[in-house]
Amino acid sequence: MKAIVLARYGPPDVLSYEDVPDPVPRAGEIRVRVHAASVNRVLDVSLRAGKEIARGPALPLIPGVDCAGVVDAVGPEVTRWRAGMRVAAAGVMPLAPCAQDGTGYVGPSGMMGIKRPGGFAELVVVPACAVIELPDALDFHYAAVVVRHVPTAWNLLVNIAELKSAETVLIMGAAGNLGSVGIQIAKNVIGATVIAAAGSEDRAALAEQFGADHVVNYGANDIGAEVMRLTQSRGVDVLYDNIANPEILPKAFRALGVGGRLVTAGAHAGPNVSIDFAHLYHKRITIKGRPGYRPADLPRCLAAAAAGKIKPRIDRVLPLAQAAQAHRLVESGRAVGKIVLDPTLG
Ligand SMILES: NC(=O)c1ccc[n+]([C@@H]2O[C@H](COP(=O)([O-])OP(=O)(O)OC[C@H]3O[C@@H](n4cnc5c(N)ncnc54)[C@H](OP(=O)(O)O)[C@@H]3O)[C@@H](O)[C@H]2O)c1
Repeated sequence: MKAIVLARYGPPDVLSYEDVPDPVPRAGEIRVRVHAASVNRVLDVSLRAGKEIARGPALPLIPGVDCAGVVDAVGPEVTRWRAGMRVAAAGVMPLAPCAQDGTGYVGPSGMMGIKRPGGFAELVVVPACAVIELPDALDFHYAAVVVRHVPTAWNLLVNIAELKSAETVLIMGAAGNLGSVGIQIAKNVIGATVIAAAGSEDRAALAEQFGADHVVNYGANDIGAEVMRLTQSRGVDVLYDNIANPEILPKAFRALGVGGRLVTAGAHAGPNVSIDFAHLYHKRITIKGRPGYRPADLPRCLAAAAAGKIKPRIDRVLPLAQAAQAHRLVESGRAVGKIVLDPTLG
């Protein structure tokens, strides 16, 4: 099969499009013919550049931390899945065979595309317990992005922040991946009031298209003052930030009102940010970091996406052979929305 192989860290051109042996599913594993794998700023681009060595990637590596496609073969003892089923998988999964429903699994785990071969390939083998069936209404390109971003955003807003319909949330980096799906979960699933904030006029305008009630361009305006104006000085109930911009986040933090909750699963512009502790205790604020997601939410996320309540923005779909170009686009900041690699396009 064709795959992208990362044998050493470096610029995008170190990503090599080459022939490798077809992977063979072991007991409890399935093989997926990949139709989509998303390209990520940290887990693909920074990892390729050698900035994520702490995650312990095993080189040479087929990257790609998610995949959506069709079951192509099943290993021994797999009864839940059969060839032809439409599926997706993402993120952390067992490194050894596991029970098909995931119950009782206690062995070592790690991310596909980091600790085990990933989705930047025509075929990928994943544990049967790590796979979810896709609704017919969801195409593969969107499905890969949904499994990558929506469950994390869902977990932060629904489970961790416990955002309510009567509350107001401030979504930072609102034109980004977690930001844009965060707006749609807050608005279309929870029914909360959404103030979406981004660093430029066009990115703020994009946030409006995702359904935000109000938008703020923090590149040109004081985010704290704008939010206090929009909330009649009450402040917001939830601050959803996955960027940790040291210039902007301290101002947004001061726009959290009484009982406010700051939730986060990302810090690519930080990680160190100065926080006003007086505001923290006076307003009884809690800060919760929570990467990942609850597997039980996956079907809810896919159903919401299939129903059109959550639609991630895809900048473009490229053939697998153009993985290096995809990395350049993400690095340049010119991509607005996700870049998806589709190995069926070459
Ligand atoms: N733990 C998990 O489960 C999980 C899952 C997905 C993502 N994440 C993490 O969450 C974070 C956000 O992911 P994402 O895919 O939403 O990111 P993204 O779309 O690539 O970027 C989000 C926003 O960050 C701002 N930004 C980008 N580069 C920046 C820089 N160098 N300095 C300052 N601001 C910058 C931009 O907003 P403005 O220019 O408008 O400010 C951008 O829209 C990442 O750190 C990612 O690793 C975690």
